[in-house]
Amino acid sequence: MSEKPSKYYVTTPIYYVNDKPHIGHSYTTILADVLANYHRLLDVPTHFLTGTDEHGQKVQQAADANGITPQEQCDQTVVRFQELWKRLEITHDDFIRTTEPRHKTVVQETLQDLFDRDEIYRAEYEGWYCVGCERFFTEKDLLDGNCPECGRKVDSIVESNYFFRMSKYQDWLIKYIEDHPGFIQPSFRANETLGFLKNKELQDLCISRPKSRLAWGIELPFDQDFVTYVWFDALINYISAVGYRSNEEQFKQWWPCSCHLIGKDILTTHTVYWPTMLKAMGVEMPQSIFAHGWWLTGRTKMSKSLGNVVNPMDMIDRCGVDAFRYFLIAEMTLGQDASFTEESFVKRYNSDLANDLGNVTSRVLSMISRYCDGKMPTPAPEGIDTSMEDALWKDVVAAAESMGPMISDMKLDGSVAAVMAGVRKINVYLQERAPWSLAKEEGTEAQIAHCLYTAAECLRVCAALLYPVMPAKMLELRTALGMSDARPHLGRLIEFGVLVPGSEISQPGALFPRIELEKKEEAPAAPKPEKKKQEKKKTEPQKPEQPVGDGLITFDQVMAVSMKTAVILEAERIEGADKLLKLQVDLGSEKRQIVAGIALHYAPESLIGKTIVVVANLKPAKLRGVESQGMLLAASCGETLKLVTVDGEIGPGAAVK
Ligand code: MSP
Repeated sequence: MSEKPSKYYVTTPIYYVNDKPHIGHSYTTILADVLANYHRLLDVPTHFLTGTDEHGQKVQQAADANGITPQEQCDQTVVRFQELWKRLEITHDDFIRTTEPRHKTVVQETLQDLFDRDEIYRAEYEGWYCVGCERFFTEKDLLDGNCPECGRKVDSIVESNYFFRMSKYQDWLIKYIEDHPGFIQPSFRANETLGFLKNKELQDLCISRPKSRLAWGIELPFDQDFVTYVWFDALINYISAVGYRSNEEQFKQWWPCSCHLIGKDILTTHTVYWPTMLKAMGVEMPQSIFAHGWWLTGRTKMSKSLGNVVNPMDMIDRCGVDAFRYFLIAEMTLGQDASFTEESFVKRYNSDLANDLGNVTSRVLSMISRYCDGKMPTPAPEGIDTSMEDALWKDVVAAAESMGPMISDMKLDGSVAAVMAGVRKINVYLQERAPWSLAKEEGTEAQIAHCLYTAAECLRVCAALLYPVMPAKMLELRTALGMSDARPHLGRLIEFGVLVPGSEISQPGALFPRIELEKKEEAPAAPKPEKKKQEKKKTEPQKPEQPVGDGLITFDQVMAVSMKTAVILEAERIEGADKLLKLQVDLGSEKRQIVAGIALHYAPESLIGKTIVVVANLKPAKLRGVESQGMLLAASCGETLKLVTVDGEIGPGAAVK
């Protein structure tokens, strides 16, 4: 199917136990589970680690608010995560809690070692601190005087602390990321980290908190007045759980990790702190760190204060675990944000699962019952025309073969779509072959048997491919097809003839019964400007030349926009504005300054000399206090953004029409 790795070690972030789990936590964990299941099917030795991050300010504050001790807070909340993982059919091999002795010992030994080797030193710190993010910032880091990560208020702080010499690894890390293209994925996230590293002087990392301020943490082995900074403690879970400093054999077996799955919110800690920590420890780098996007409610970020957080338990109660897992995997293009609405869920469930997969399953099984006495028929390719069956099998095999490379490329939504395309092919084939019509003719038994056997074989392949995503339902389907093994193996997947003729099939009832949309108010979403226009359209008769309501503009309006080619002469970042670049462009007859929100997508130096397209007659405006004399054009889709350029040599100032 695709190149098999010799082992597969996958991790999720360890989740804070300050609150109950929500859909975001479920997503990363399901994603890891699907990848682990897939590798197990390939018979690749697999280790899947998840767990909880139990120290730090967030947990302490939650405990205080609940009137319990931090340890009680951990013990009560961890159960909610563990119960949810059970419910979601998560098959982790290990669950680490950072309050466990096996982890604390490793953290302390690591700290002592780094301290002894002068990788950690004590110093006076003066700066800004964000309680929410538990991170220190310099004056320069702040955005409008607030935390650059979460935008909240920061506190001024002066205290003595311990620091990890992270800054000395800045150049090494830049080179490492550049030399290892798959290290941070998707690649635009690698660019984001590189942009950060190349444009900021990396500071040493404060790895301690005085107990007088925060007592809930792992005590520094060389100073009892301090506990360890929660991120320094937490990141070490990825190695403490697999035997670092405690079980050399186990550590060798699993490390380096194949894939750290994270959300985009924790990119810096994983792609800057963690690699430099490992480098200082003398430990090999993980093979990849993959940052996925956010689940949004409609177009709005999920947040407790907006009350739009999707509770996984509610969805599971309504439609079952497997459908929930399927939706999350099929709906999110890895790396980009995706939206969870009841509407999109019900739509996908009914079309993919109830209509396509559910329908083809019940058709195949009920026809085998009716025309073949409920026993798997014997394929009879001799003496009959099998061209339609051969073509169908070829299509399904092609879908199966495309799956491996897609999973290696982390295109999980694409891999599921490929299998679903195969499922639809079976349906179309049945419609065209129409065994129910054949059954009305004499002497067609062999043709019907071959038809239904082929359809069942194709279904077997699809069920095996979907097993990592929907294990329980796909086992149900396999059992219905008369298969007795506990789980599929991808080894004999695309061999025709695995199903045993004569074996009893069963009718499991509807695998995925249709569901209806519940009539309830939608979660608050960002106002949609189109809506307003439509409402206006109802009350105001439209002028023929100005068809505003239907979104169309006139030729004259297009001609009023002056677009020109321009060559980028200089590009630089704007202090305090992570997303903006200041460009000096040559517009043929003049030079202009343009401010553009492309800093997360393009390194400034990569832009010099590019011919782009700009709107030249836009009224100048100030962005973050910097004047912009025009606007450049770029195409964007989800997280991807590409500049609009011209197809070949043309000088600056050429009109674009
Ligand atoms: N404890 C740290 C991680 C330490 S790892 C060494 C932490 N915990 S967390 O509880 O806040 O979980 C963050 C992770 O949950 C994100 O990185 C992401 O994997 C997942 N998600 C939380 N909300 C999410 C969405 N709305 N959408 C998708 N996933 C998000 O940070």
